[in-house]
Amino acid sequence: MSWIVDNSLTWFQKFCINVLKCGPIPRHVAFIMDGNRRFAKKIHLKRKDGHTRGFDKLAETLQWCLVLGIKEVTVYAFSIENFKRSSDEVDTLMDLAREKYKRLMEEKDKLMAEGVCIRVIGNLELLPEDIRKLIAEAIIMTKDNNKVFFEYCIRLHF
Ligand code: FPP
Repeated sequence: MSWIVDNSLTWFQKFCINVLKCGPIPRHVAFIMDGNRRFAKKIHLKRKDGHTRGFDKLAETLQWCLVLGIKEVTVYAFSIENFKRSSDEVDTLMDLAREKYKRLMEEKDKLMAEGVCIRVIGNLELLPEDIRKLIAEAIIMTKDNNKVFFEYCIRLHF
């Protein structure tokens, strides 16, 4: 699934957005990704598919934020604890991140049209080098955009 979901809202979704826009819209919203594995277990999917569905939900959520005019979105997606999972699962998550960052680079036109500035914050040194490179490319490519700021947090220490 794409990072920037095409604007294919239903009549009812458009109605809800117009209602929400009548009130104050927050400037900054933050999300913590959680429950991917529990969701997969509940509907008898493989863990990997639970993580993929989690990413798809994130992309959908970003679309809502764009449409609502939320200026800054922060996603806390990968903690130091997550690196302690089985190497199989960490590899699966890294493969998914690699695939999604590659996809992000292919969606340059959409990102530029929407004015999305990508920021990745945290300590990136445990990530494979090719993913760090993709992240650096995404940050550099979108650095002058200023309509929406999308921050992706990895391995933060609190
Ligand atoms: C939370 O559910 C999900 C994570 C800790 C990993 C999220 C990361 C990805 C899906 C990688 C996607 C890549 C990009 C570029 C966004 P959980 O696994 O903790 O599930 P649980 O709460 O049911 O145990």
